[in-house]
Amino acid sequence: MAREGDGSLSEVWARVGSLHRINDLAHTLHFYERWALDYDQDVANLQYRAPRLAVDCLSQAFPGPPHSALILDVACGTGLVAVELQARGFLQLHGVDGSPAMLEQAQARGLYQHLSLCTLGQEPLPSPEGTYDAVLMVGALSDGQVPCSAIPELLRVTKPGGLVCLTTRANPSNLRYKAALEATLDRLEQAGEWERLVAWTVDRWELATSKLEEVPGTSDTDGYIPGIVYLYRKQEVTQVEGVRPSAQPLTGL
Ligand SMILES: C[S@@+](CC[C@H](N)C(=O)[O-])C[C@H]1O[C@@H](n2cnc3c(N)ncnc32)[C@H](O)[C@@H]1O
Repeated sequence: MAREGDGSLSEVWARVGSLHRINDLAHTLHFYERWALDYDQDVANLQYRAPRLAVDCLSQAFPGPPHSALILDVACGTGLVAVELQARGFLQLHGVDGSPAMLEQAQARGLYQHLSLCTLGQEPLPSPEGTYDAVLMVGALSDGQVPCSAIPELLRVTKPGGLVCLTTRANPSNLRYKAALEATLDRLEQAGEWERLVAWTVDRWELATSKLEEVPGTSDTDGYIPGIVYLYRKQEVTQVEGVRPSAQPLTGL
């Protein structure tokens, strides 16, 4: 397989910058196919901290013992989120991703009990309703990756009262997607499907790939782009006497 390269920081910036400009899912997944072997090294060079920040957020709010929780890592990539989850005692991990080459890298880590190929936005998650204690999706909510219309699918597979943790970038070129995402998250909250526990903006999310992507701030944040971690709790099932809980599919958002 042709590889995307393994060169200097400026090459990493160019590569990740070009990924951020793709807004078509087929091209994005093709890019990840070619990037899989170099992904971990490149994002380390980029000081990509989203997996750690998301798992910190989840583990602080998680109500029970982590070892008995079943967790789904959506768009798991090479498994960086699983590394963080395992470090905090979450051991029962399933993953899905739309790129076979990224899944191969995740498989090689040996941290997931189950991995599946699944393209969000085109097919449902391969799990029954209410399967997981927590669902995470880190680094995949942007144009050309996972569409906002896939969010209800994450809720579907989460247990009532379970947690959903999401991240997105807040750099200039992702602001339109972020606004659409937040509108979707808010509509689900207004519909009583879940409640927001956390919306945590982080200034030093990862290095900017160009001056244009930087958000002017203090010298401390110069050179970085901001990002955000969202944490939601799915509505508990409330059964009113004599009325069966509704099993409406979460569509039309
Ligand atoms: C930036 S990587 C993030 C991987 C991992 N979560 C992390 O934080 O390191 C984005 C991942 O999302 C996957 N992806 C993007 N769009 C997808 C979609 N619509 N369905 C499934 N996977 C998708 C890519 O294949 C890639 O592995």
